[in-house]
Amino acid sequence: MPLAEHFANIFDMNVMVVGSGGREHAIAWKIAESAIVEKVICVPGNGGTASEPKCVNVDLNGCGYIKSGENPYVQIAKHEDCSLCVIGPEEPLANGLADIFWESGIPCVGPKMAAAQLEASKDFSKEFMQKYGVACAQSRTFTSKEAANEYIKQHGAPVVIKADGLAAGKGVVVAASEEDAFSAVEDLMESGRVGDAGKKIVIEDYLQGVEISVLAAVSVSEKSIEYGTSAIVPFLPARDHKRLLDGAKGPNTGGMGAICPVEDVSEKTMELFRKNCLEPTLNGLIQEKFDYRGFIFFGVMLTKDGPKLLEYNVRLGDPETQAVLPLMDFDFVDMCLAIAHGTLFNFSAKWKKGFQVAPVVVSGGYPESYPKGNVISIDKRQVRKNKAKIFAAGAVFENHSKTPQLVTNGGRVLCCSAFGKTFNAAWENAYGALKGVSFEGAFHRNDIGLPGAAESGEL
Ligand code: AMP
Ligand code: GLY
Repeated sequence: MPLAEHFANIFDMNVMVVGSGGREHAIAWKIAESAIVEKVICVPGNGGTASEPKCVNVDLNGCGYIKSGENPYVQIAKHEDCSLCVIGPEEPLANGLADIFWESGIPCVGPKMAAAQLEASKDFSKEFMQKYGVACAQSRTFTSKEAANEYIKQHGAPVVIKADGLAAGKGVVVAASEEDAFSAVEDLMESGRVGDAGKKIVIEDYLQGVEISVLAAVSVSEKSIEYGTSAIVPFLPARDHKRLLDGAKGPNTGGMGAICPVEDVSEKTMELFRKNCLEPTLNGLIQEKFDYRGFIFFGVMLTKDGPKLLEYNVRLGDPETQAVLPLMDFDFVDMCLAIAHGTLFNFSAKWKKGFQVAPVVVSGGYPESYPKGNVISIDKRQVRKNKAKIFAAGAVFENHSKTPQLVTNGGRVLCCSAFGKTFNAAWENAYGALKGVSFEGAFHRNDIGLPGAAESGEL
């Protein structure tokens, strides 16, 4: 019997979701769909989760009952009677929030701190990849600018310079020339553009190809290692579009839209990915005796020599989640319970036949500075008619007037994720639904998922 059904006989669950982005809105929405869930506590959530059935936003600082001593997330989880917690973003994971939940006896989806280093330190993750034979680019790590520059002179360009630590997507420079590489080293190590994250850098060989994102559920723990029941379940391949403008032009962003699945990824490519990236990763997690009960993200370059891993994230991707979760043809809470309780090896993930296209709408001026507080108008009929779902990100309810209004509060404001039986139908639906969304300065790409829209890795 699926765990969700089993639990349904016992109680209606309350589930906590940590985070405030579009990814967390999609997670909360999918959790709320489950028949066994009574309430989803979003900490802090956003304007989207606030208006989702069963979902309640709780402000960590403003909820009134937090006392010093015990971790505030744990206090909220206990107060709200949550029997499961799903942690969305990387920072709380890198800071050990999953460890704290498990220590407090609250089952949690998200790796413990030691395993979260796979995202928090590029040096750590490259060492892991090399140790366990995960297909990836050659690299060297440096703590001195002089040694890094010496290596660049010997190696030549193109080359990729990466800050070791978390840098909110601003820590990687693909350098086309040696001069660009020297200035990236200066920028990351000396000028402190990304703070302490750049004190150590990784210099990596440049890989040419197109990128995909593969998200997966993972359940590795002391028990699963002992019983041989550790498991990893990959999701359908997805693709993010990181550049601001059509044709993969303009500056990098947090993600301007995603598609799932990716038609140009063959079964043979996925087979190679499983053999050369996925399986060695699971083996590494087991050998290192990590407690990894959560989601993992593989940033993959499809090169002419096969798929190569660029990076791990220890969480679901944003905006990939908004394109992937609507295609799940299973109870997401069931999967989360299987991750946390060690039965993922028994879990069969079924997917809807069709496509999701999910463009992101951003504030004018993003990724630099942008205004906040612009009123967002959404024509719900237009959205529904196009089989679309709006996932809010930088959008909150403002309570100044009698009727609270949804206003912009961030760079990436929302994501419009639409279904279609074919890619073209999904694309038409997504862009049709977007006609019903407006706010002052709203901007989106017009080519998400189209030929030429993906970064090609060509310099
Ligand atoms: P990362 O955070 O390591 O995934 O790097 C961010 C982005 O930089 C990737 O999504 C790629 O577009 C690019 N990138 C990273 N590593 C490489 C590489 N070895 N070769 C080419 N492009 C890369
Ligand atoms: N879409 C890439 C990320 O979530 O980091």
